[in-house]
Amino acid sequence: MRAKPGLVVLISGTGRNLQAILDAVAGGRLNADIRLVLSNRGDAYGLCRAERAGVPTRVLRPRHYPDRAAYEADLAAAIDEVAPEAVALAGFMRILGSGFVQHFSGRLVNIHPSLLPAYRGLDTHRRVLQANETRHGASVHFVTEDLDAGPVLLQGSIAVKRDDTPDSLGQRVMDKVETRIYPQALDWITSGRAVFDGKTLRLAGEALEEPIHVDCD
Ligand code: GRF
Repeated sequence: MRAKPGLVVLISGTGRNLQAILDAVAGGRLNADIRLVLSNRGDAYGLCRAERAGVPTRVLRPRHYPDRAAYEADLAAAIDEVAPEAVALAGFMRILGSGFVQHFSGRLVNIHPSLLPAYRGLDTHRRVLQANETRHGASVHFVTEDLDAGPVLLQGSIAVKRDDTPDSLGQRVMDKVETRIYPQALDWITSGRAVFDGKTLRLAGEALEEPIHVDCD
């Protein structure tokens, strides 16, 4: 039997996306072997989720390194040790430098809680409410050197409710959108169905002009 494609997940916090990925692997919806969960914080709850699922974990703390380049070199080495086909950022709250991003080009993906290209950066749920948007969601994109600007593979959206708060909206985006689209997008990537060569994003061999969009209401 051929080995399953390898996946490494980088986290900093609660790891709800990580849980969805673990569940999808256990349920056979994501054909991947999660070889390592890496965190930049020792207190990330996602580490407990990984341990419960029997997945190896490592914590690499930035403050133990003289600078960002040294930290990211070690992070890259830890990932390279398990030679994954894909590296998923799942709430990893650090901006990664160009050397790291280039090293993993075509294999590095992120989930961002907005309908990119709208609302790059932080605090998206509050900004969406302030702008009276009627729909909101999340996007899975390949990571390039520009923050939250790499090509989007898959996005999902929900209706914004009139009485939403940033917390209620963020919770719904997580429950209905993020935990659904991230495992799906990762399955397309680890299976080779979605390929980004650094220039063009292709799905099933065809250049993808627009992200695939799913309505998650
Ligand atoms: C998610 O909203 C994700 O889109 C963003 O950070 C959050 C991580 O949450 N990048 P969790 O750690 O997966 O619970």
